[in-house]
Amino acid sequence: MFQSKNKMVLAMPENQWQSALYESKHSFVWRYGADCLELLLPQQGEYILDVGCGTGQLTQEIAARGVIAIGIDKAPTMIEQARKNYPNLRFEVADATRFHFKEPFDAVFSNATLHWINEPERVIASIWQTLKPGGRFVAEFGGKGNIRAITTAIGKALETNAISASFTNPWYFPSIGEYATLLEKQGFSVTHATLFDRLTPLEDGEKGMQNWIEMFADSLLPEMSSNKRISAMQDIENQLRPELYRDGTWFADYKRIRVVATKA
Ligand code: BEZ
Repeated sequence: MFQSKNKMVLAMPENQWQSALYESKHSFVWRYGADCLELLLPQQGEYILDVGCGTGQLTQEIAARGVIAIGIDKAPTMIEQARKNYPNLRFEVADATRFHFKEPFDAVFSNATLHWINEPERVIASIWQTLKPGGRFVAEFGGKGNIRAITTAIGKALETNAISASFTNPWYFPSIGEYATLLEKQGFSVTHATLFDRLTPLEDGEKGMQNWIEMFADSLLPEMSSNKRISAMQDIENQLRPELYRDGTWFADYKRIRVVATKA
């Protein structure tokens, strides 16, 4: 049965994610996010929005607890795959900075998404307006210091291979203080905020780091010949190997921020 309590008003197709690659080689994204559901504590009959649902695995886990769960993502490719994966659930293409639903939610959940959006105030405002009074916001994403080793290695490799002198970090990795302040400015009461290291094993053995960079950080690498690209990738791996490669597995130096806030 298609769960439709609500009507989506705004949809913003744009981001062309490769949903097949995401699902086959990056399942850690939602496997780790499942921990955060313990903070969400979904209750039977609640109405919960999953912001940045990707291919729908966590939306499905939320729904499995007797909740009416709706997933939104900016990438049409992800939503298309989410609908195929879980045809009984509702998924919509929508931009986290300006979505709007007619019916308010009991809770908004978000895993591994908010670091992609450089307008946190707008995301927080959208979440605020979609929650019922007393509703809760539970999120996990990259926090201050996230992937520092990886981005430093990419920067050095671009410089030493004379590819580019600098790059702009496209992500938003706030400290707890910074993010809690934004939430409080909006009117939220922050009841839980942590920042912790989570060295995350990547799939596919020796190819793990290259896959990760190609999936998530390709925008940092400018156009270059395939020879230059190979030597830049080797340089990145050589720099990272002592810190992030162990027994045949690459790791990403993730640092997560987790927050729980209520619309008081
Ligand atoms: C993260 O989940 O922390 C992340 C993933 C891709 C790019 C940057 C950060």
